[in-house]
Amino acid sequence: MATEMSGSTSTINQNRGGLEGVVAATTALSKVDGTAGRLIYRGYNIHDLAGKASFEEIAYLLWYGKLPTKMELVDLKVQMLEERTLPTAVLQVLNYLPPTAVPMDVLRTAVSAYGAATIQGKPTLDHAIALTERFPLILAAFHRIRNGLEPLEAHPEIGYAANYLYLLTGQMPKEEHVRALDTYLVLLADHGMNASTFTARVIASTESDIASAVVGAIGALKGPLHGGAPSKVKDMLDAIGTEDRAEGWLRDALAHGDRLMGFGHRVYKTQDPRAEELCEMARIADPQQFALAHKVEELALALLKEQKPGRRLYTNVEFYTAVTLSSVGLPGDLFTPTFAASRIAGWTAHILEHVANNRLIRPEAEYTGPIEQQFVPLDER
Ligand code: ACO
Repeated sequence: MATEMSGSTSTINQNRGGLEGVVAATTALSKVDGTAGRLIYRGYNIHDLAGKASFEEIAYLLWYGKLPTKMELVDLKVQMLEERTLPTAVLQVLNYLPPTAVPMDVLRTAVSAYGAATIQGKPTLDHAIALTERFPLILAAFHRIRNGLEPLEAHPEIGYAANYLYLLTGQMPKEEHVRALDTYLVLLADHGMNASTFTARVIASTESDIASAVVGAIGALKGPLHGGAPSKVKDMLDAIGTEDRAEGWLRDALAHGDRLMGFGHRVYKTQDPRAEELCEMARIADPQQFALAHKVEELALALLKEQKPGRRLYTNVEFYTAVTLSSVGLPGDLFTPTFAASRIAGWTAHILEHVANNRLIRPEAEYTGPIEQQFVPLDER
């Protein structure tokens, strides 16, 4: 006869699941203060970095633990430039995949192919730099292939953000587009123990390789409850279309039990500081789309307050990401992969931080099923 396991008062039972509030690691990389609405990268407030430091400077800060001097930044950029090609194996994979494939799936597959072709051994900083530089190359190459165009040679003289935009179109990007994308990349580079970073650290803790850890992180980022939201925000804004339709559309969505994409956050119970920065960027980058988005935001916040009282749901980073990234010319299905092209700096920094002082991450599950079942052979069942 089956007996039930007696319930234990584990942490998981005391909270609402999802490891909410559980401290899973120590890190010196970033602090997310969800009460004050503050994000800090290695001691620097995100508001002091956005629009003032480049993505390369922030990647350096995360990888090396300090902001670079001019010479140190030049050295990093030289090393990144040396990585500005795609191995044939990766190009073959990109050509082999159907043009209808989801770019986030393509990125996951191409990073896996890149790892198989080039990466071996313990995670190193050289691996981190090499992988990071490949992200825009992979995305732009696939985007061109799916449109029947040849991938371009990377530009040897421009920065990470500019090269990404250049590789998509073959045109030198506008200065304001580069600035907007670069600021976006700075804002998204790291964010405490988010789901994809945790995934990367779990995989790295098994002494697997860095590419495997990053492939896992890409898979975790893809989901709409994490990094997959901004294209859905764009879909929502497109479906609403005009300000007068916004309230009805949002009420309908909530009445159907749908979540409003771009709102709510596990840690921020106040304004997401990245959303504040992106809101200002979106206002300048595309005033027309911003006007609609701003109206939708106002109404959504009011409706969430009315219909989800006490849940403290605010605008998250993904909401104005949609306006910002479409204003620089990116199609909706490249929003989440572009998030990955920023977060790769944080993922790899976390992997290196973890392996420097590794212990296998192996939590427990509280078993709630039966025990001591009597086995009955197949032909007697
Ligand atoms: N729209 C409507 N209701 C919401 C939303 C939302 N966006 N977010 C949370 N809620 C409601 C839930 O329905 C729930 O209500 P209930 O108590 O009546 O059941 C309550 O608020 C708490 O929701 P949880 O899922 O427990 O909150 P959690 O901390 O897990 O949620 C999450 C965080 C997943 C981001 C959630 O707010 C959400 O789904 N948002 C929409 C998707 C999104 O924007 N994702 C991007 C997040 S930012 C990032 O990862 C970079």
